[in-house]
Amino acid sequence: MRVLASAPAKIILFGEHSVVYGKPAIAAAIDLRTYVWASFNEKKAIKIEAKDIKVPGLTVSFSENEIYFESDYGRAAEVLSYVRQAIELVKEEADREDRGITVSITSQIPVGAGLGSSAAVAVATIGAVSRLLGLELTPSEVGKLGHKVELLVQGASSGIDPTVSAVGGFLYYQKGSFEELPVLELPIVVGYTGTSGSTKELVSKVRRNLEEMPDIMEPIISSMGKVVERAREIILSDYDRDIKFKLLGKLMNINHGLLDAIGVSTKSLSDLVYASREAGAIGAKITGAGGGGCMYALAPSKQSEVATAIKIGGGMPLITKISREGVRIEDIT
Ligand code: PMV
Repeated sequence: MRVLASAPAKIILFGEHSVVYGKPAIAAAIDLRTYVWASFNEKKAIKIEAKDIKVPGLTVSFSENEIYFESDYGRAAEVLSYVRQAIELVKEEADREDRGITVSITSQIPVGAGLGSSAAVAVATIGAVSRLLGLELTPSEVGKLGHKVELLVQGASSGIDPTVSAVGGFLYYQKGSFEELPVLELPIVVGYTGTSGSTKELVSKVRRNLEEMPDIMEPIISSMGKVVERAREIILSDYDRDIKFKLLGKLMNINHGLLDAIGVSTKSLSDLVYASREAGAIGAKITGAGGGGCMYALAPSKQSEVATAIKIGGGMPLITKISREGVRIEDIT
């Protein structure tokens, strides 16, 4: 028996970083996916084949606490620790520690770009392996296990990435709980700077700034929370689409300024943000941890102009859509 599951990438629309301090955030799944095939193997080993995870292909085997790299590419190896944890957690959950599992991964999501590649690979792995072992998990339960994987691998995480990857659509997320918001088909362009920031380091940097200057930083974090509340009200309102976009665009620009103020923007991120606005985007901001990675722009009827501006500005544009579906089983043979 072989099971194929997939899970989407995400963007944080509003509220990255402030979400770490208990404020809400809004995230959306986007239509780039990671695919994971899971099957049994005769040994007790976990075997991971990463055919294409947007870094050169490699095969890694884990057995009895030893890791065999058939080739080693640092960033890819980091992703694989999420896969290994995900498999071990599901085996434990299913009480099937005795089974050897082979997974094979392909992904459309660039690694380390802040689009949730680690969460998507963990969630797709949990989806495939749980079905293989006969566990019936809801998307929300898959998200909870994905959060556990992140805590084990990273030490700290708000859990927003695995939750939105598992559940899909638009989520309003706060302290481990979420509300599904109606999906707005946002005409967005994602701009990838081509470099990646470390989420862990950026979260620590913000924490240091907060400890150093709480009187200044706390109101900024609190304003970020208010931006998210307002965005939620707009998404749920009866306003027509164009007014919603205009108001959300304004909030994106404010949120970008606040993220810059807490120290997570870079010149290349801000260059892409300003280039997008000049090309007609009604809002543009960092998405994710910052320090490199991605920004996104809201650009009704200007997506190709904004994509060109991002390219000229030195970034890689990605015209993408919101994905309504989170983790899903694609095939069972
Ligand atoms: O690096 P990303 O895109 O997964 O963004 C992380 C979002 C943060 O709020 C910075 C951290 C977190 O755990 O929520």
